[in-house]
Amino acid sequence: MADFDGKIALVTGGGSGIGRATAIAFAREGASVVIGNRNSDAGAAVVKTIKNEGGEASFLRTDVSSEDDVKALIGHAVATYGRLDVAFNNAGIGGAGGPLADQTVDNFDAVMNTNVKGVWLSMKYEIPEMLKTGGGAIVNNSSIGGLLGFAGVGIYSASKHAVMGLTRSAALEYSAHGIRVNAVNPAVIRTPMAESLARMRKVKPDDFSKAHPIGRIGEPEEVAATVLWLCSDKASFVTGTATCVDGGFTIQ
Ligand SMILES: NC(=O)c1ccc[n+]([C@@H]2O[C@H](COP(=O)([O-])OP(=O)(O)OC[C@H]3O[C@@H](n4cnc5c(N)ncnc54)[C@H](O)[C@@H]3O)[C@@H](O)[C@H]2O)c1
Repeated sequence: MADFDGKIALVTGGGSGIGRATAIAFAREGASVVIGNRNSDAGAAVVKTIKNEGGEASFLRTDVSSEDDVKALIGHAVATYGRLDVAFNNAGIGGAGGPLADQTVDNFDAVMNTNVKGVWLSMKYEIPEMLKTGGGAIVNNSSIGGLLGFAGVGIYSASKHAVMGLTRSAALEYSAHGIRVNAVNPAVIRTPMAESLARMRKVKPDDFSKAHPIGRIGEPEEVAATVLWLCSDKASFVTGTATCVDGGFTIQ
């Protein structure tokens, strides 16, 4: 029996990169997967990939910074599959790079609205559904930028620190009610977001390898495997953690 047979899993930002890999991994482990993504073509393509492999998935166009959209997404999950067991709140953007004094209010709002408000809104509507069925597990996608400062991406780093605050507070509030809430903290992972970071720094994604003690950057499937473990019963005593998937970046 697979770890998520009969379970309903939600993935925001499931159209690309880490979210895509995690949605596919959940489906391979037996879950019915609901994908919310701002880009419809990408979200629909992941559903097609899952169905072609014999899995079950559904997509709803969602901007996680919109309360109406998030409410509709969780409503769609429950209307389609009956309940919600696990959620990966992953949708995020890097925003514009550069020193803090050069940043614009528009960039600040865009990053905070997706990365912070989006995670909070997702939990706001996921938690009541999980409470109705006796519990569940939530993983929020933070970053090593949620644990350390990074020159040139200060607003992004602040947003990911806020994700840690939301994660730890939610874990305190809901763990005794059967909902474990954890964060994953990836270092550089080979996705379109890492490609834009590399373009911003005028390097290639693999040029970030030397910053990771393990000697390479990470793959989206490696984050997905960690998210699945955190959402599974194997992690039944794990809550409120920052879970680094970082090739040793943060031990330096
Ligand atoms: N790639 C990395 O190196 C890395 C490292 C640490 C953390 N992360 C985090 O991982 C998460 C996923 O990033 P990725 O690298 O897979 O990037 P990505 O750009 O490949 O994927 C992000 C996905 O989120 C969607 N999205 C963006 N804003 C949205 C919104 N407002 N509403 C709904 N969907 C939205 C995009 O359409 C896209 O499908 C992000 O939260 C990111 O901060 C990435």
